Amino acid sequence: MKVLVTGYTGQLGHDVVREGKLRGINMIGIGREDLDIANEVEVYQYVQKTNPDVIIHCAAYTAVDKAEDDKETCWNVNVLGTKYIAKAAKKVNTKLMYISTDYVFDGKGEEPFKEADKPDPVGYYGLTKYEGEKIVTDLLEEHFIVRISWVFGINGHNFIKTMLRLSKTRDELNVVGDQYGSPTYTFDLARLLVDMIQTEKYGVYHASNEGFCTWAEFASEIFQQANKDVTVNSISTEEYPTRAVRPKNSRLSKQKLIDNGFEPLPKWQDALQHYLNELAQEVN
Ligand SMILES: NC(=O)c1ccc[n+]([C@@H]2O[C@H](COP(=O)([O-])OP(=O)(O)OC[C@H]3O[C@@H](n4cnc5c(N)ncnc54)[C@H](OP(=O)(O)O)[C@@H]3O)[C@@H](O)[C@H]2O)c1
Repeated sequence: MKVLVTGYTGQLGHDVVREGKLRGINMIGIGREDLDIANEVEVYQYVQKTNPDVIIHCAAYTAVDKAEDDKETCWNVNVLGTKYIAKAAKKVNTKLMYISTDYVFDGKGEEPFKEADKPDPVGYYGLTKYEGEKIVTDLLEEHFIVRISWVFGINGHNFIKTMLRLSKTRDELNVVGDQYGSPTYTFDLARLLVDMIQTEKYGVYHASNEGFCTWAEFASEIFQQANKDVTVNSISTEEYPTRAVRPKNSRLSKQKLIDNGFEPLPKWQDALQHYLNELAQEVN
C-alpha cells in the first residue's frame, strides 16, 4: 500500500507518516515546499505521478485567529486546496481521508456533538474546514472525514508547549475555563487513522483522546504532571478576547468509532503523560 500524506511538516502528518512506516507501509509525506496544495495543476501532476492508494490530507491553514484577517489565504488552502486534492483523488481513483475539526460546530449546549449533527461554524477557519468537508462528500464516495480537536504532537506548536514555555517565567496564569473539549495526541490518533484507511468503513468520524476538560483544567494537569509550580486561574472566554470566536462546547461524541469496531484513544491525562515523556526524550 502506498499512502500520500499532506501536512507532513505539521503535527499530525508527521506522526501519521511515522506510524505508517513502523507498520512497513510505503508513506510519502509532503509539506508545502514539496507541493503547494493551492496550485491545482501541481496537485494533479503530483498525485498522478505518485499514484497513491490512499491520501491522508492533514495539510491546512490552521492559524485560527489570523484566518479572520487573511481570509483569502485560508480559503485557498482549506477550500481550494482540499478541492484540488479531492479532484485529483477522484481522477486516480484513490481513497481520501480528510482531517477536519471540532470548529465546524457552533459550540452551543453541553452535549457532545454527534457525527451526524449539522455543522454551523462560528469562525472563518471552521467555515473553510466545513466547506472542505462538503467538497470531499460531494466529489468522492470512498472518503473518510475525521474531526479532531485540541491537537498536540511532537512536531509543531501547541498548547502544552506554550504552557511549558510560560512556566519558565510565570508562577501564575489566567486560562480560559468555560470552553470544554478533548485534547488529541497525534501519536494516538495516527494509529487510529492508519487502522482506518485499511478498511472500507467510510464516513464521518470524531476522534480525540477520552474524557473532557476545559483549557484551565488542561493547563493545571500539564503543570502537575510536569512538576511546575504554577497557579492556574480559571477565567471566562469574555475575559480573554481573541480575534476569532471559539466554540464553548467542543465535546465530540465518538460513538461511531465504537460502533465500527475501532479502538478508542487513551484518556487525555494518559496521553499527556506519554507526550511529556516524548518531549523529554527529544531534549535528551
Ligand atoms: N491544531 C489543532 O488544534 C487542530 C484542531 C482540530 C483540527 N485540526 C486539523 O488537523 C489537521 C492537522 O493539524 P496540525 O495541527 O498537524 O497542523 P499544523 O501543525 O499547523 O501543520 C499544517 C500543515 O499544513 C501544511 N500546509 C499549510 N499550507 C499549505 C499549502 N498551501 N500547501 C501544502 N501544505 C500546506 C503545512 O506545511 P508547511 O509547514 O510547509 O507550511 C503543515 O505541514 C489540519 O487539517 C487541521 O485543520 C487541527
